[in-house]
Amino acid sequence: MSNNTNRRDFLGYTFAAVAAVGGAASLVGMKQAWDPLPSVLSGGFTNVEVSGLKAGEPTTVMWRGKPIFVLKKTAEMEDSKRDLKIGSDRFTVAIGLCTHLGCIPAWKKDTWKCACHGGEFNASGKQTFGPPPRPLDLPPFSVKGTEIVLGEEGPEYKEIAAAMMA
Ligand code: FES
Repeated sequence: MSNNTNRRDFLGYTFAAVAAVGGAASLVGMKQAWDPLPSVLSGGFTNVEVSGLKAGEPTTVMWRGKPIFVLKKTAEMEDSKRDLKIGSDRFTVAIGLCTHLGCIPAWKKDTWKCACHGGEFNASGKQTFGPPPRPLDLPPFSVKGTEIVLGEEGPEYKEIAAAMMA
């Protein structure tokens, strides 16, 4: 009799322990489901190391689902009020979506050309041909050493944004 009781107690405890572990595991599972995905977290900020970029050859990085163009300008490329100066280099940083209807322009030699309706933007992101009504937009960024951090408004961004509005 007492053996049976003990056995039932033991099973009861075991079940309780399993239930507790299962409950904890499912809480962890739920927390993981509630937390932003790692890809969403890292999507908030995107770091672009510019020291290795080749002048005249833009790179495209994805930031919050948008393509961002980063171009190290060549010496021949015009000066612009939106030039981002890092060390002795000048960069164009722009959201890579055509300001007409949002297609992604492609870099051809020294111009971003939009295949949708023939819009063109020069190396400074300024519209030079076709229907785009304004330059390529400026994403918020800050500068840390030789890295551009997309997603936060640093002093360099504020200065360029103000110059573009003027
Ligand atoms: S969407 Fe680029 S020119 Fe129309």
